[in-house]
Amino acid sequence: MVAVVALLAIACFLLCDDAHGQEAVDLGDFWNNDAHFQYVSKARFPSPPPSTQYAMNVGFQFVTRPGIWYLFHSEYAFTTQPSYCKADYARILVRNSTDEGRTWSAGTVVATPIPNTAQECAIVDGAGFYDDETNTWHYIAQCLNRTDHWMLCHYTRQGETPTGMFTPNPYNPVVYGGQLWSRICALPHAHCDENMYDEGTPEIFTKVEGNFYVTFHGWDAKAGKSARGIAMTPNFVDWSVTGAGLPGDAIFTSKDCEHWNVTWAKGGCVGGGEGTMLAASDIFYHLIEAPDITLGCLTKPGLQNWVLGMLRAPGIEATGMWQQSFNPIVVPAVKQGCYIQYHRLFKGDNATYLEYWAADWMQVFKLVPGPGPRPIVAGPPPDI
Ligand SMILES: *[C@@H]1O[C@H](CO)[C@@H](O)[C@H](O)[C@H]1NC(C)=O
Ligand SMILES: *[C@@H]1O[C@H](CO)[C@@H](O)[C@H](O)[C@H]1NC(C)=O
Ligand SMILES: *[C@@H]1O[C@H](CO)[C@@H](O)[C@H](O)[C@H]1NC(C)=O
Ligand SMILES: *[C@@H]1O[C@H](CO)[C@@H](O)[C@H](O)[C@H]1NC(C)=O
Repeated sequence: MVAVVALLAIACFLLCDDAHGQEAVDLGDFWNNDAHFQYVSKARFPSPPPSTQYAMNVGFQFVTRPGIWYLFHSEYAFTTQPSYCKADYARILVRNSTDEGRTWSAGTVVATPIPNTAQECAIVDGAGFYDDETNTWHYIAQCLNRTDHWMLCHYTRQGETPTGMFTPNPYNPVVYGGQLWSRICALPHAHCDENMYDEGTPEIFTKVEGNFYVTFHGWDAKAGKSARGIAMTPNFVDWSVTGAGLPGDAIFTSKDCEHWNVTWAKGGCVGGGEGTMLAASDIFYHLIEAPDITLGCLTKPGLQNWVLGMLRAPGIEATGMWQQSFNPIVVPAVKQGCYIQYHRLFKGDNATYLEYWAADWMQVFKLVPGPGPRPIVAGPPPDI
């Protein structure tokens, strides 16, 4: 097991690093407070008229290639919602930027609702990945049909750029609600129970030896607990929850946030939600949101804590085994559920970046040398 973890760490160091250039500082320096995140840009993406709303057009995720960033996000209110879709109706766009997110291209549709399929109502909160071994783009997202059950759907596109329509996997939905969590939580040493379901906010962390490693959140309504887990797949259809560096457990549960410096509501931290992982040197860094009360957003100010914490480990460890940073490492300017959302860590050409949505703006920060304030307070972006 230790050898496999080491192999994964080394393989990831070579593959995930995808070194575009030289970084002055990395997440190890941030961890030690020898580097901090400096504001670089803000953006938001209104729906086409007559709507022009932008607050729902989130679910951000970045894939960078030399000299260019691609940003995937959801778009609501792009057309009249069909009457059979009672809840969300959304599609996925991709845009690109060559100036660290200061300006973005127009959006191109990569996945859109198709009647009478698993993705007939909404495709949201997903993640892209460029597999340079096969020159293929992947996108995996939450999808919704008229029965109002969230599932995971997968899409691919051949070629150098993701700019264009992706092809839905003929096996969509590739994951039904609860399909992976029921297997993870049934493992002998798992710290979650089998009521965990709702595989959501998937992120494709890396590909090692033909397998994609995908993380996702889960919600157990019965216990009022959430978690983040990981599974691997060679094709997004067949999934393994053990072996080859997997922990045989959730990677984050309420156990990992219970001692954070937050005055949690009665019942404590419920566990994790959306999370983003990035390797630096041979260490895996995980930045993850954690609320109290429920994994749903209580958006009335003062009701709910909703913060981000950072953890790290030399492999993909089980819950409880990750080293804690100064947590919470990112707090909202206003105590409010979902004030901070859709955060990501990613590498650009020569630097590491942090992004989050707060105060109705997508904000991007670059890691630069020197210490910074702890925790980071997420609020409105600078007025520039
Ligand atoms: C990134 O680093 C490379 C050399 O490693 C350099 O040629 C390039 O100009 C740098 N790019 C930026 C945006 O600083
Ligand atoms: C960037 O986006 C624009 C607008 O969709 C598109 O025309 C262009 O081809 C994209 N660039 C790349 C490299 O994909
Ligand atoms: C809609 O979702 C339900 C629940 O996941 C599933 O049983 C049903 O087959 C789906 N319908 C289509 C058309 O995908
Ligand atoms: C915990 O957070 C409070 C602010 O909410 C701060 O005043 C205090 O210094 C923090 N404690 C530690 C040990 O960081």
